[in-house]
Amino acid sequence: MRKNRVAQYMVWVMEIFTEAKSFEANPILGNRLLNRLGLHVIRLIIARLITGFRRWILGWKISSAHRRGFRQKGYLRIDNVLPPELFKRLQDEGEHSWPEVREFIQGDTTTQLAFLTQARLKQLPATSMLCDSASVRNLLNYVASNALRPWPHFLRVCNRGGEMINDPQKHFHSDTFHPTMKAWLFLEDVTADKGPFQYVQGSNRLTLKRLLWEYRQSIQGRSLNERYAARGSLRIAENELASLNLFHIQTFNVPANTLIIADTSGFHRRGEAAADTSRLSVYFSSRLNPFVPFPLPDFEPFNRFAEKLVAEHVEKTTLPQAHYSQNKQSF
Ligand SMILES: [Fe+2]
Repeated sequence: MRKNRVAQYMVWVMEIFTEAKSFEANPILGNRLLNRLGLHVIRLIIARLITGFRRWILGWKISSAHRRGFRQKGYLRIDNVLPPELFKRLQDEGEHSWPEVREFIQGDTTTQLAFLTQARLKQLPATSMLCDSASVRNLLNYVASNALRPWPHFLRVCNRGGEMINDPQKHFHSDTFHPTMKAWLFLEDVTADKGPFQYVQGSNRLTLKRLLWEYRQSIQGRSLNERYAARGSLRIAENELASLNLFHIQTFNVPANTLIIADTSGFHRRGEAAADTSRLSVYFSSRLNPFVPFPLPDFEPFNRFAEKLVAEHVEKTTLPQAHYSQNKQSF
């Protein structure tokens, strides 16, 4: 019994050096005294320095304008990513050729997704060409601060209407304490009623005000009254943004064939949406322990291992959606 307890503590201690973020799940990360002494902010500063260095190593593959724009705003927006003919084929695959549909529900929002493994991409030639595009890949890798293959999904966010307050993604939040990447290539025009992605411009930067805010939040830690915040995805009210010198909310009402790549350690949310609307995209994510000092290389065994972990994670956190075609008609 005592042995188990010691082993559990060892795991919690080791988690300090990983992407673990939950104040609630890990009593060391959530320890008020340790956070008063700076545990959370020290992790945050070290993770930022390391991921900054990893981006610097990968930066030569993208233009200086993209690097500068990303550093200032926390996101990149690329219009007309694919040539029209290829984009049309991609749209067709995104609308009709999901290898499977899984879903999860948050408040009034149902998120449907299919993780596109290498095996599945063989059946999706246009999607495969998007994933193989060196220019897209270099941008994704730069923001992710690692050279592993990013993880592509088909993603449809469906808005049912009602219970707005219960969708945690509709409040401004930071996904985690370290820089991380999420990206969407929209397969249809995103109009204001479809709940467009919103990003607080510049909230990717670690200013003194942001650091003090993080410090105060970490002291509350486990007792933060929002469940997701206590698990390490901190929430901020819209009227609090100005106190951190953050004044501009960018709303991505964008035409089809636009790619948005964001550092989701910056504040972001899903915009308000009308009932029975949806938005369809190819979604990419990528994560690596922020304390690994170098970007992992694009090495096939690493890619395969990461793919397996992501597939397991998707399996664990979503449910199969057996009647996709009937459901789709209602969105
Ligand atoms: Fe998020």
